[in-house]
Amino acid sequence: MTCCGKAAANSCWGSALATKHTRGSVQFECAECGFQSPKYYGRCPQCQAWNAMIESAAGEEDAAGDAAEVRPQRLSEIDPVRVRRQLSGMDEFDRVLGGGIVPHSVTLIGGEPGVGKSTLLLEVSAMLASRGMKVLYYSGEESAPQIKLRAERLKLRCDGIFLFTIGTLEDLKGHLREIRPDFLVIDSIQTLGSRKTSHISGSVASLRYVTAEIVEWGKQSGVTVFIIGHITKEGQLAGPKTLEHMVDAVLYFQGETQTDIRLLRAEKNRFGPLNEVGIFQMSERGLVSVSDPSQVLIQDRQAHLPGTAVFPAMNGMRPLLTEVQALVADNPFAGNPRRIAIGFDSYRLSMLISIIEKKLRLPFYKSDVFLNVTGGMVIREPAADLAVCQALVTSYKNIAPRPNSVVMGEVGLTGEIRPIGFMETRLKEAIRQGFSTFCLPSAQGAALNSHDISVFSIENLRDLLDFLKS
Ligand SMILES: Nc1ncnc2c1ncn2[C@@H]1O[C@H](COP(=O)(O)OP(=O)(O)OP(=O)(O)O)[C@@H](O)[C@H]1O
Ligand SMILES: [Mg+2]
Repeated sequence: MTCCGKAAANSCWGSALATKHTRGSVQFECAECGFQSPKYYGRCPQCQAWNAMIESAAGEEDAAGDAAEVRPQRLSEIDPVRVRRQLSGMDEFDRVLGGGIVPHSVTLIGGEPGVGKSTLLLEVSAMLASRGMKVLYYSGEESAPQIKLRAERLKLRCDGIFLFTIGTLEDLKGHLREIRPDFLVIDSIQTLGSRKTSHISGSVASLRYVTAEIVEWGKQSGVTVFIIGHITKEGQLAGPKTLEHMVDAVLYFQGETQTDIRLLRAEKNRFGPLNEVGIFQMSERGLVSVSDPSQVLIQDRQAHLPGTAVFPAMNGMRPLLTEVQALVADNPFAGNPRRIAIGFDSYRLSMLISIIEKKLRLPFYKSDVFLNVTGGMVIREPAADLAVCQALVTSYKNIAPRPNSVVMGEVGLTGEIRPIGFMETRLKEAIRQGFSTFCLPSAQGAALNSHDISVFSIENLRDLLDFLKS
């Protein structure tokens, strides 16, 4: 957990600042490697980075006051009340953060253009403001009237939100000192420059410098920070990978353009479980938390189609029923078949195809294979192996899966079906959604005894064919 209350936060960060600010003679610092010099260099003499020297903050007034007065505190003496999580009131948002917002934390939120990042954070800001919090919202992308228009469309009460559009880091620091907000939203980090890095604006070094300053400022002054970040074509947060190390949590906001479903996924969280997913629906009135996500994820499914399987995937501590789809198609250019996986590890897909070829004697080497986890979900658990195998085999053989069935189990290299974690939780969710036929690892299926469900306990991959025929 965090070690910080406001005072404690000062103690954590104060020593580093004291070191930085007492070197009065230093005027330039490399944003890449930290090399310091009284002289400006176009190319850093230490790491050879071009245009990375930034005028150091020596002599600048310290935002948190005199850092030298701050002393380390015993962990046992820190008041836990100060680190109690703040609920935003948006259930799915709080869930992804691990049960609420940790005070003084810094969270980076990335997402495709137009997915709803600004909408999400404006709604969260309004909810926090309605709970008596003061929020400073910086927007470098939209003007104040445009944001007001959105707030009116979403019917948000915005009394506690202070808006600041299109300025520099130095202006922002001034407003932070004056307003002293509880929360700061930066929309987006790519649009916030610093006067000190104006000669390298838009560069990786500038982005890193601005982020480091905000993180440092947030921790010193006890402000909780949300930073919106653009993502690249490959779906990664734009900018240096180190940005993700500098913040406490990294969330990705995703959505399929054809649907109104949006997923918020925790890729890194110092204070909560990983892979937790929050599910929202986008409407004219904004984002609404979905109360029964499993239902939403499988509601449009066409059951009994070849090439499908339903699997209860664990997202953080919550099981979500997810459909895995496969297409095994003849490849006329034999010799170089394609294996493409979306939402599943492609190496694991190749491994499962090889096991099927060897153990079930199905010649997949002549076919292209496409695998997709529907709804934009991502499955990272080996527990989904058997579901992937069912989707592949039923597509290849063009046979329907068992009606109302769920398959789960890890597949070993010898074709054995291995037990998986969270079996009870997954079963409960599937039964709650009306599934009644289960194909499970023998070690776990044998122990189940219920009149309401049919359980097929299987020991190896060959038994899957019997399950599909029965
Ligand atoms: N009247 C509306 N009814 C329904 N949905 C709307 C309406 N207006 C906007 N939206 C939704 O809001 C999305 C835009 O949201 P927002 O501006 O928050 O996205 P963003 O991720 O911040 O985008 P950018 O990367 O461009 O800043 C649109 O793509 C659309 O899905
Ligand atoms: Mg936006």
